[in-house]
Amino acid sequence: MLDPSRILQRCDALARHSELPDGLTRVFLSPQGRAAGELVLGWMREAGMQAGLDAIGNAVGRYEGERPGLACLMLGSHLDTVRDAGKYDGMLGVISAIECVALLNAEKKRLPFAIEVVGFGDEEGVRFGTTLLGSRAIAGTLDPRVLEAKDAKGISIAEALRQFDLNPKEVPGVARKKGAILAYVELHIEQGPVLEAENLPVGVVTAINGFSRLRVSLRGEAGHAGTVPMKLRRDALAAAAECVLAVERLARAQPELVATVGRLEAKPGAINVIPGEVQFSVDVRAPEDAAREQAVAAARTEIALISESRSIGFEIETLQELGSSACAPWLMAQLERAVRAEGLRVLRLPSGAGHDGMAMKAIADIAMLFVRCERGVSHNPAEAISAEDAGTGAKILYQFIHDFRPELPA
Ligand code: GLV
Ligand code: MN
Ligand code: MN
Repeated sequence: MLDPSRILQRCDALARHSELPDGLTRVFLSPQGRAAGELVLGWMREAGMQAGLDAIGNAVGRYEGERPGLACLMLGSHLDTVRDAGKYDGMLGVISAIECVALLNAEKKRLPFAIEVVGFGDEEGVRFGTTLLGSRAIAGTLDPRVLEAKDAKGISIAEALRQFDLNPKEVPGVARKKGAILAYVELHIEQGPVLEAENLPVGVVTAINGFSRLRVSLRGEAGHAGTVPMKLRRDALAAAAECVLAVERLARAQPELVATVGRLEAKPGAINVIPGEVQFSVDVRAPEDAAREQAVAAARTEIALISESRSIGFEIETLQELGSSACAPWLMAQLERAVRAEGLRVLRLPSGAGHDGMAMKAIADIAMLFVRCERGVSHNPAEAISAEDAGTGAKILYQFIHDFRPELPA
């Protein structure tokens, strides 16, 4: 039997591994990430899988098929979180997949393919400012130079891997061979309000919107807040404020395009000092790649004009860019069959949030099943789902796995 209350209890148990005493923050390659990974590996083994951490810190479990060594259906999601996160974004997909394998194992069922469940170490990109490190490593698209990226304390990914007892030189070996993964399928909370409005517990994802992430650095001149006349100031924070509003205006002018400045740091950061330096992030997303690219170009122009008009130096770096990722029709059809088998109407919807499938599509076709979350709230400690919906999601995932047939080569 699939056990919805165990799924939610396990989400609670993972949420206790946090750097916050009364909230959830768990970033890539942190001690809390290690503890969460160990917990997940234990659950994988209990479900009959062989499990271990790979060289980039993903928790990977494998349940062999009718014979050892068969190509696998890969399931999973991520185990890292944003700051002050909810406890289902990512974790629900990993735990639900383990629950399905536990049932197969209890029923002594072996399928004509292997199943692998992955708890990706980094999807959110909070610590190093670059996302999807775990899934890019598996897909074989992680440029080794990315391992030089540093966190706010100046620790590089390579150093952090060594501190985690992992060997950065082994990261390229995490990449799978083409054909070894038959498909990548992820269950995830919707993180939006559509399913609730449609009164449905689940939906089938059509595509994941693309994103661009920028880091903008502005350099003015720090000075005395009491003595420098307004006309003579080069206030980097006042310039940044104009830039933030310009980014918001650009996004509002485009249907379906969203843009967010989620992080802003002003230095030196004192009440009586004019801010001399500011760094902020820009995250732009859209279903259409061309619309996103145009908006990013317009944002760059606006930031340049605002900076120049205030005699502020500026630098704009692209941290990461990924195009919109379509889900594979053949996989969507199989997921939809499982949804109908549960007596539910099929709703197709796009994903505004990013997911590991964006990286996995380089090595395998992808699909996603969304599970309703309360009021569509996520990236927020108020994130909530019902045990009934968690159970329905897991049941549909199980049915999908059970009936899964790889697409035959044309
Ligand atoms: C990941 O959750 C993202 O979409 O930022
Ligand atoms: Mn997230
Ligand atoms: Mn997520």
